[in-house]
Amino acid sequence: MLKKIFGRDDFPVPDRSSPLFRNINWERLPKHVAVIMDGNGRWATQQGMLRTAGHSTGVSALKNILKTASGMKLNALTVYAFSTENWKRPHTEVDFLMKLFSESLMRELEEMHEYKVQIHFIGRIEGLPKSLQKEMRAAEKLMENNTGVKFNVAVNYGGQDELLRVMQNFAQKAKNGELNPEDINESMIEDALDTCGNYPVDLVIRTSGDQRLSNFLLWQSAYAELWFTDTNWPDFTPEEFVEAIEDFGKRERRFGGLNK
Ligand code: IPE
Ligand code: IPE
Ligand code: MG
Repeated sequence: MLKKIFGRDDFPVPDRSSPLFRNINWERLPKHVAVIMDGNGRWATQQGMLRTAGHSTGVSALKNILKTASGMKLNALTVYAFSTENWKRPHTEVDFLMKLFSESLMRELEEMHEYKVQIHFIGRIEGLPKSLQKEMRAAEKLMENNTGVKFNVAVNYGGQDELLRVMQNFAQKAKNGELNPEDINESMIEDALDTCGNYPVDLVIRTSGDQRLSNFLLWQSAYAELWFTDTNWPDFTPEEFVEAIEDFGKRERRFGGLNK
């Protein structure tokens, strides 16, 4: 029971020779995996607990998935922690989440740094509590020269909001005479997104049964493969994460072209 509530905190970073990875086709490993960590509230409610208990347990699940991503040498893992729409929730839940982000970051910082994670926060960061912003910037700075998995955490993130910021930025430059509208191309847009420097998303995983994007990485997921599971996020295991990666390895991606 304790294990179920708190997750497998003793889970070590597996390396590529781990039995966990035995069925992975390394030639077809996605470069960038994005995860919509949904179902914390439902998980908690189903066990007669407060929704907030689901969020806390969700952090343990995330820790194990990050270790798994790191061990398999994934290039990038982007996770959806809080959307621009999540402010609609009761302020007690929002306050709890902001505290949880801060506490979890402070607690896990050193360990993530040890296994060379490069953390980066995406979204409208200036809309978050000032103290959290400072902690986020400090964590990014600490890990900026690391060479392991790029771990992007989307907080106060919305795909539409991100594109709106890019458009405002371009319009301002055009107005100042620094940018000619005809010169705007796709790669300039990519460079202006919060995910600048990352590969396009290859695989989107969403837990908890709903099959939608909920405003996550709209531009970046243009040709992503989608993978859904009924498992609620706090119960999502490294094994199931690997199952999604294995399934990705079997997909035929055409990008609008024809089969070879
Ligand atoms: C996802 O779990 C976490 C956040 C959105 C912060 P939810 O809180 O959405 O859980 P459900 O979907 O209500 O079960
Ligand atoms: C998406 O989940 C956002 C996060 C996981 C942070 P939501 O629970 O907010 O999405 P909807 O409301 O079901 O679309
Ligand atoms: Mg939800």
